Amino acid sequence: MKVIHPAHEIAQRVKTLAQEITKTYSGCELTVIGILKGSFIFLSDLVRAIDMPVQIDFATLSSYGNADCPQGEVKILHDIKLNITGRHVLLVDDILDTGESLSAYKRYLEQKGPASVRICTMVNKTHRRSAAIQPDFYGFLIEDGFVVGYGLDYAEQYRALPDICVLETNSIDGEEYA
Ligand code: IMP
Ligand code: MG
Repeated sequence: MKVIHPAHEIAQRVKTLAQEITKTYSGCELTVIGILKGSFIFLSDLVRAIDMPVQIDFATLSSYGNADCPQGEVKILHDIKLNITGRHVLLVDDILDTGESLSAYKRYLEQKGPASVRICTMVNKTHRRSAAIQPDFYGFLIEDGFVVGYGLDYAEQYRALPDICVLETNSIDGEEYA
């Protein structure tokens, strides 16, 4: 396991991102929606650094590659409870990889009549992107590789690591990849 972004660098990056977000939404009604479980640490740091009142809610999506969810399909296991009609929505997740889960959930949220829906992920991983979607805000860019820590897991391990690390393994398959 190799550290690629140590905790102090993450903290600095989150601060800058939060300033950008505060500027973008100045004077707006903002709802931050975290995708569980990967977003929980990033979202906690981010919302405390955003300098405006925000509403917060969470959703859980099924991930591709699971037995209960065939490839390419995204299910909403737990939806938000807040009403987002007319509100600006910032969708927060740990990583944008293929982009399939967030683009499907974004389309779904857009049917609820929000003023806007934007995406913020800690990591923007570009190599496997298949959906026509980009993060509006992101912390770090990686081309490829499997990263863990700061909320990101491998088979439910490593989420609590304070640094973002590359997992150096060749045993990662689709079954575990979410
Ligand atoms: P996407 O729908 O392909 O963009 O990926 C969604 C989910 O895949 C993310 O929210 C993560 O849970 C998981 N994922 C993708 N790449 C990684 C990684 O490098 N480390 C940990 N989880 C990942
Ligand atoms: Mg995950």
